[in-house]
Amino acid sequence: MIDNILFGHMPYLFIVTAVVGTIYRYVANRYTWSSLSSQFLENKSLFYGSFPWHYGIIIILLGHIIGIITPGSILAWNSVPLRLYILEISGLSLGILAFIGLLVLVYRRLTDSRVKAVTSSWDVLLLIVLLIQVATGLANATMYRWGSNWYAASAVPWIWSILTLNPRVDYIATLPLITKVHIFNALIFIGLIPFTRLVHFLAFIGPIKYLFRPWQVVRWYNRDTQTENIVQYK
Ligand code: HEM
Repeated sequence: MIDNILFGHMPYLFIVTAVVGTIYRYVANRYTWSSLSSQFLENKSLFYGSFPWHYGIIIILLGHIIGIITPGSILAWNSVPLRLYILEISGLSLGILAFIGLLVLVYRRLTDSRVKAVTSSWDVLLLIVLLIQVATGLANATMYRWGSNWYAASAVPWIWSILTLNPRVDYIATLPLITKVHIFNALIFIGLIPFTRLVHFLAFIGPIKYLFRPWQVVRWYNRDTQTENIVQYK
C-alpha cells in the first residue's frame, strides 16, 4: 500500500513539479539559472570539493542513464565475471570520489563564514538530499551485490513502467529498504530541481542550439598579402 503511493503515484508528482517548475522558472526568472558562484569568496576547498564531486557524480549518473536506455547491454557486459568486477569497482570508486568531494563542499559551506552568508535554506536542503543519495548509493553498492545486475533487471523496468504511465511497483517491491530510500530520495532530488541551484545543470541545453544554427560567414582583408579571405564556421 505505502509502496504503491511512494513508487506508483508520487513519481508523477515529483516529475510534474520538476517540469512545470523548471519551465516557470525559465520564463519568469531566467537570469537565476546560474549556480551563483562563490569562487571569489573561497577557492581552495571549492577546487578540492567541486572537482571530485562533479567528475564522480556525472559519470555515475551517465552509468545510471546508460542502464535505463540499454539495460540489456549492461547485463551482457556483466556476463563475464572480470567485466562485472571492473564495472562494479569503477562505480564504487567514482561513488567514493563523489562522496569525498561532497563532504568537502558541505564542510566548506558550514565553516567558511563568507560562503555561509550566501547559503540559502534551499542549498542546505539540497546538500542533505545529495548526502543521503550518495551515501545510500554507496550502501547499495557495498551491501547488495551485484548492483549493476539487479539495477538493470528490476529497477530499470520499474523506471520504464513509470515513464510509460503503467506503474509496476511490484518490480521493486522486494528490494531492500536502503535501496528504496535511494530511489525515493532520487525522486525528491528531481522535484527539487526548479527550486534550487540544481537548475544550473540544465544550462547545458543552451549551447545545443549552436549545432543547428546556420553557417557563420567571416570575411577579412589581409593587408600584407592584399587578399580577401572568407571562412565559414559552424
Ligand atoms: C539523483 C539520482 C541518483 C544519484 C545522484 C545516484 C547516485 C548513486 C551513487 C553515488 C551510487 C554509488 C556508486 C555506484 O556504485 O555506482 C549509486 C548506486 C546505485 N544506484 Fe543510484 N543514484 C540516483 C538514482 C538512482 C535511481 C533512480 C535508482 C533506481 C531506480 C538507482 C539505483 C542504484 C543502484 C542499484 C546502485 C548500486 C549500483 C552498483 O552496485 O553497481 N539510483 N547511485
